[in-house]
Amino acid sequence: MFRIIKTRNTLPIIVQKCFVSSVPKPIVNPTIKYTELFINNEFVKSSSGKTFETLNPATGEPIAQVQEGNSTDVNNAVEAAQEAFKLGSPWRTINASQRGVLLNKLADLIDRDSVYLASLEALDNGKPFSVALSDDVPVSSSVLRYYAGWADKNHGKVTPIDGNYFAYTRHEPVGVCGQIIPWNFPLLMLSWKIGPAIAMGNCVVLKPAEQTPLTALHIASLIKEAGFPPGVINIVPGDGPTTGKAIVDHLGIDKVAFTGSTEVGKIIAEGGAKSNLKRVTLELGGKSPNIIFSDSDIDQAVQGAHFGLFYNMGQCCCAGSRTFVHESIYEEFVEKSAKLAEKRCVGNQFDPETKQGPQIDEEQLNKILSLIESGKQQGAELVTGGCRVGNKGYFVKPTVFANVKDDMKIAKEEIFGPVQQLLKFKDIDEVIQRANNTDYGLAAAVFSKNIDTVNKVIQSVRAGTVWINCYNVFGVQAPFGGFKMSGYGREMAEYGLQPYTEVKTVITSIPEKNN
Ligand code: NAI
Ligand code: MG
Repeated sequence: MFRIIKTRNTLPIIVQKCFVSSVPKPIVNPTIKYTELFINNEFVKSSSGKTFETLNPATGEPIAQVQEGNSTDVNNAVEAAQEAFKLGSPWRTINASQRGVLLNKLADLIDRDSVYLASLEALDNGKPFSVALSDDVPVSSSVLRYYAGWADKNHGKVTPIDGNYFAYTRHEPVGVCGQIIPWNFPLLMLSWKIGPAIAMGNCVVLKPAEQTPLTALHIASLIKEAGFPPGVINIVPGDGPTTGKAIVDHLGIDKVAFTGSTEVGKIIAEGGAKSNLKRVTLELGGKSPNIIFSDSDIDQAVQGAHFGLFYNMGQCCCAGSRTFVHESIYEEFVEKSAKLAEKRCVGNQFDPETKQGPQIDEEQLNKILSLIESGKQQGAELVTGGCRVGNKGYFVKPTVFANVKDDMKIAKEEIFGPVQQLLKFKDIDEVIQRANNTDYGLAAAVFSKNIDTVNKVIQSVRAGTVWINCYNVFGVQAPFGGFKMSGYGREMAEYGLQPYTEVKTVITSIPEKNN
């Protein structure tokens, strides 16, 4: 989902810079230092004594046993966060600028440990080490640095209220924030969540995904090392229905931020409302259209569509998973897309040649394979791929389907895997209507050289981000979030501060006469 790129050659700018010095080698067997819950700046065992296994998706073999938080542990974490948030506490009395200093310190520590963190992320998640090192780790620290800068700048306004009064607004923290994150970008999602929350002076109870808890726990140790007061950031690993639910239902939590499936997003919106009407922001699924017009640079468009779908093993909420191609260039586009997919190197996450590692787990592997099966059965043309690679780990061959029709399952459901759908269109009005014919609205893209065509698509498509002649280009300065059932609220940029800010209006009477 996330990289800073030049789309023509798809090399991340950060990687290009790295060519100047030598690219570090991964730690293939990183030592697992932290597997416990992080509450009040201490690593502790779960109250139940229960643990869960986290696996290496390339082999299906366990990496470590991690402590599993339950409602008692979440409660302990919330109590620690509430204590840290108490009026007069060190955290509530710290200078706003000092919150920025702490976030910058954390970013520096992440960069110091970048090779270890990228190795651990690759091991736990399956993404290529090279990608974790060029994208996930440095972008995570840059997100924290960006929000460090905001810590003393999100100020209120003086407002010219009628009458003899002085009125202004204060921007205050919301309180204790629950944050529930997914497994596709474990480090990045953590930084997207804690950056704005901490900049605004909130306290946090964060739950990493059960598939990928390890990098969050290393970050926990860095949080302590950076010097955050106890209880400001607590990290409680565990599964959704137990640990996640305990966060959503907790009366001491003021806000929940969630990234994950639309299905669970609905549960969270409901749970947040039923418990204490906590504020909820949701970043959910997508079935994003990528529209390729006949006047586009076809090679750039093929590359953009490939990158827009296959990046991160297709496990991106904003994946361009419905590629609409104009009929006049359709055959050429299909052929070139298939060639590119066939060249994509699938393999172990630590092999420098690897572009595509395994899917996250067996459940996702089976979901993807069954959607591929449905594509075949419903009459889509399987141009390349369509099966598992090997029988160990969760690898899927890069797959391209042509002649996909709008009502097929593969054109409607989020696949979250390396499976590209190529659909044919005739004219702009038709394709806009079809692009919008989805419950989702996270992202969209258009490839064309015609400014009128581009502008028409930009204005018509119902999506939170629209890319023109590029895909998957992110910047912490640009907001991200969805229309429709892709969720609500925005993350990153100045907009990302709003969900973590309460606005307090202050009105002071000014005496008519001075005695
Ligand atoms: P999920 O939505 O179940 O999991 C995401 C997070 O929510 C995890 O931390 C999980 O523990 C937590 N969670 C699950 N149930 C919960 C509950 N009842 N209360 C509170 N927290 C809960 O996603 P899952 O099952 O891992 O993947 C299923 C599908 O969701 C994928 O195939 C993909 O289509 C989509 N997905 C979308 C993501 C995105 O970036 N928007 C990320 C991950 C998955
Ligand atoms: Mg789930």
